[in-house]
Amino acid sequence: MSNCQPRSIWWDDGLWLIDQTLLPEELLALKICSIHQLVQAIKSLKVRGAPALGAAGAYGIALAARLCRAAGSPEMMAELETAAEMIRSARPTAVNLSWGVDRAMRAAACGESGEEIRERALSEAEEIATEDIRVNQLLGKFGARLLRDGDNVLTHCNAGRLACVGWGTALGVVRSAVAEGKKIHVYACETRPLHQGSRLTAWELTEDGIPVTLICDSMSGSLMRKGKIDKVIVGADRITRDAVFNKIGTYSHAVLARHHNIPFYVAAPLSTFDPRHEESEIVVEERDPEEICSLNGKRLAPEGIEAYNPAFDATPLELVSGIITEKGVFKPPLMPLI
Ligand code: MRU
Repeated sequence: MSNCQPRSIWWDDGLWLIDQTLLPEELLALKICSIHQLVQAIKSLKVRGAPALGAAGAYGIALAARLCRAAGSPEMMAELETAAEMIRSARPTAVNLSWGVDRAMRAAACGESGEEIRERALSEAEEIATEDIRVNQLLGKFGARLLRDGDNVLTHCNAGRLACVGWGTALGVVRSAVAEGKKIHVYACETRPLHQGSRLTAWELTEDGIPVTLICDSMSGSLMRKGKIDKVIVGADRITRDAVFNKIGTYSHAVLARHHNIPFYVAAPLSTFDPRHEESEIVVEERDPEEICSLNGKRLAPEGIEAYNPAFDATPLELVSGIITEKGVFKPPLMPLI
């Protein structure tokens, strides 16, 4: 395992990302040539995970600036704002997407000529991407203190290096603990319906040689009851004043963890915090019910069945034992823990 793993998203004479929908079968980079293509890539989860979306949003503004024909402000900023709105609204729940877009827009707005606006947008996007890896490694170190040698950690969805620019949040904590010489075993929930756990988390950990056992989402309670889980660590898409939004299914693990007296940790950078809002104000993305009704083109349910497919759920902060950030571990209501 090295610190120099390829990034999930990067700029190399244009915007590139790992197409996460092809994993684990193929590891392929995709060049993004238009804002429309970027929006489609975000909606279809070719790039996904809150911190990776933050970088995608910022690089999207850099791309829009490069494609823009206007010579400078204010015409150029008006065109960038149109692109910004398209990107922000591609997925509503992960706060990092609009955070990344807004940061790059603020940087671009300080430029006057077209050249200056382009440079400022790109250098802010590059800064966000580099910062993401640094922040994840910092939070990884704080989180690693919570793990003991021999721990079995349950995680849900993918909060690894693919979901970020590199290293990862929940998996970053595991990586940091392993780098310190601790033996950690991960139970990865498959994460219905889009299988980020089996396709991405299981792949990432296997690549790194970290022991991982794949389980169905519904098995977590039974494993907890049998004493097989020491800690739960998940990522977050948005942390409001009162709740953690993360992949659908997270809340059930949190309730089960509380029932079995197992610590339930959330690992997330401060850029995922949204203290101005509370749970009831947040739009939870609802995805195409077909994602539940079929798999790789094969029908799993009767034609015409009614299905409900929210992408995320909210876990009240009182079920969270600690939030692992780059500034330390905080216990709701956000007092420093270590
Ligand atoms: O729909 P996804 O795959 O983008 O959902 C991602 C998650 O829920 C992750 O747990 C979250 O973004 C944290 S990633 C570090």
